[in-house]
Amino acid sequence: MYVISSLFLNYHMNLSMFVFLKTLFVICILIVPSGHSNAYDVSFPILSALDCDESAEGWEERAYARSINGVLGLPNIDHPIDNQPSLAKIRLGRKLFFDRRLSINKTMSCAMCHVPEQAFTNWELQTAVGVEGRSLKRNSPSLLNVGFYKVLFHDGRDKMLETQFVSPLIARNEMANPSVGLVIDLLQNLADYKNYFHQAFGGQASLDRVGMALGAYQRSLVAGNTLFDHWYYNKKDSALTESQKRGFKLFTGKANCGSCHLINDKHALFTDNLFHDTGYGWMRERKRQYPNEKVLVQVTPDLSFELSHAKVMSVGLPVEADLGRYEVTEKPEDRWKFRTSSLRNIAVTMPYMHDGGLPSLAEVINFYDSGGPGHPLQDKRIQPLNLSKKERDDLENFLESLTSLNLSCLVAEGRSHDPDNHEIDH
Ligand code: HEC
Ligand code: HEC
Repeated sequence: MYVISSLFLNYHMNLSMFVFLKTLFVICILIVPSGHSNAYDVSFPILSALDCDESAEGWEERAYARSINGVLGLPNIDHPIDNQPSLAKIRLGRKLFFDRRLSINKTMSCAMCHVPEQAFTNWELQTAVGVEGRSLKRNSPSLLNVGFYKVLFHDGRDKMLETQFVSPLIARNEMANPSVGLVIDLLQNLADYKNYFHQAFGGQASLDRVGMALGAYQRSLVAGNTLFDHWYYNKKDSALTESQKRGFKLFTGKANCGSCHLINDKHALFTDNLFHDTGYGWMRERKRQYPNEKVLVQVTPDLSFELSHAKVMSVGLPVEADLGRYEVTEKPEDRWKFRTSSLRNIAVTMPYMHDGGLPSLAEVINFYDSGGPGHPLQDKRIQPLNLSKKERDDLENFLESLTSLNLSCLVAEGRSHDPDNHEIDH
C-alpha cells in the first residue's frame, strides 16, 4: 500500500496507469481477510466509474438495450404496457434521480441514499438518513435489478416504480417536500428540464411523467452477467472455484437457501417475490424491547466504548418497532414477514437485512446456521443447519460469485453527466 501511495505522490500519472494502480489496489483489498464481523469493515470493495472502459457517450443506448434485450442470467424485464422505455425517458429519469433540488432544502437526491459507487445502496449506514439528519427505521435497498421485483419496499407496500417515488419525495425523514404538487411545479419551472420532458413525453412535467421517467431509468439498472451465470447458464466450468461450486450445492441442497432465493433453469432472480418470517425480525423486536444493559459503541475500526443502554438512548431517538408486512396488511399472520431480497450483487450491498443489522455475509450465514429464534410464526424452512466452518466459507464464497461483472459501467452511466443542480434557477 505504501508503494502505491508514494507512486501517487511522486509521479504524474496518465489514466491507464491510474486504472492499473486502482486495479492493483482493489486486488490488495480483495485479498485482505475481512476482520471481526462486529467491527465495521474497512476493506470495502471499490466500485468506480474509472474501471469502465466504455465511453460516456451513448450510455442511454446501452441502458435501453439492457432493459429491452436482457442480460445473461436474468429474464427480460416486464415493462408496464403504458410505460415502455425510450432513450429520452431513461435520460430524464437519470437526471431526476441525481437532482438534489427535488428535496425541500435542495440538499438531497435519490442517489444520496442509493449511491451508484455503493451498488445503489449505502454501505455506511445501517438505516438510511434523510434531510437534516432524520433517520429511517430501514436499510436502503440496492436498486440494481429493482425492475424484477413484483412488490417494492421491504414490506411490499408499493408495486410500481411509477408510483413508488412519491413516498421518498414527501416523507419527512427523506426528501421532506410539503407536497408532491410543489415538486411538479418546481420541475415545470426549471428551465433545464424543459427539453428533457418535451423529448420524453412531448409536453411539460407532470406527476405521471416523473414516475414514468424514474421507472424507465431504474429498470435499466439490470445487473446480471456474473461468474455464477457464466458457470451455470454458459456452462463455463472454470468460472467458479471448487469452493464456490460446493457452496452452490449447499445453497440449493442442505442449507435450503434456494427454496426462497430462487434459481430457475433459464434465469435466476434469487427471490420468490414473497414474504417470509425468517425469525430475524422477531429477534430484532425482542432486542428492542429487552435491550442489553451495556452496549458497545464503536467509534473507529479498533476503538469501542462500553456504555449503558440508557445513556445511548438519552442522545438518540428510540428505536422504532418494525412489524414488516403486517404494517401493510394488518393481518396477524403477517407479523415479522419481509420480502425475500434478491441475492444478486449481495457481496457489494452490505449491511444486510431490513434494518441493516448484520454487517457481513459471514454474519448472515451464522444467523441462518443457528436456525433463528424458532418462535411459533417462524418459517419452517429456517432450521439449525450445523454447518462446519468450511461449509460456511463455501456458502459465502458462492454468494461472492453473484456480483455482476459490469457494475463499474452502471456507475459510469449514472455519473456520465453533471447533475446540473448547482444553482436554483426558478
Ligand atoms: C433518505 C434516504 C432515501 C432517499 C432520499 C431515497 N430513498 Fe429510496 N429507499 C430508501 C429506503 C430506506 C428504502 C426502504 C424503505 C422500506 O422498505 O420501508 C427505499 C426503497 C426504495 C425503493 C424500493 C426498492 C426495493 O427493493 O423494493 C425504490 C425503487 C427507491 N427507494 C427509489 C428511490 C427514488 C426514485 C428516490 C428519489 C425520488 C429515493 N428512493 C430516495 C432510502 C431512500
Ligand atoms: C424461508 C425463506 C428463506 C430461506 C430458506 C432463506 N432466506 Fe435469505 N432471506 C429471506 C427473507 C424474507 C429475507 C429478508 C429478511 C429481512 O430483511 O429481514 C432474506 C434475506 C437474506 C439476506 C440479506 C439480503 C439483504 O439484501 O440484506 C441474505 C444474504 C440471505 N437472505 C441469504 C440466505 C442464505 C445464504 C440462505 C440459506 C442458508 C437463506 N437466505 C435462506 C428468505 C429466506
